[in-house]
Amino acid sequence: MSDIKIKITDRDGVAHEVDAPTDMNMNLMEVVRSYELAPEGTIGICGGMAMCASCQCYILSDHELPEKSDDEEAMLAEAFNVKENSRLGCQLHISEEMDGLEVELAPEEL
Ligand code: FES
Repeated sequence: MSDIKIKITDRDGVAHEVDAPTDMNMNLMEVVRSYELAPEGTIGICGGMAMCASCQCYILSDHELPEKSDDEEAMLAEAFNVKENSRLGCQLHISEEMDGLEVELAPEEL
């Protein structure tokens, strides 16, 4: 068993419970894209380099997640709609500790 469950609320407020593999070196932004929970071109624009914030999401559950890197901190400092619980989805690698994680996609940056 290498799949975990993640609940992702899309930008229209619709919640989706999805299975995410822990053994494919995926990040949360890639999971959102693979389930097409955000239109192509509105998420993952920089390709997961912590340089666009299009993958920003809010962490709703109280999971312990890895600390933000300096790059992630710097990008979130410039992004819009940032909250206390904002993270960049592309910087969150899917791991077993994330089972049951609940996140909400941040609004699209215009
Ligand atoms: S995809 Fe660009 S910051 Fe995450």
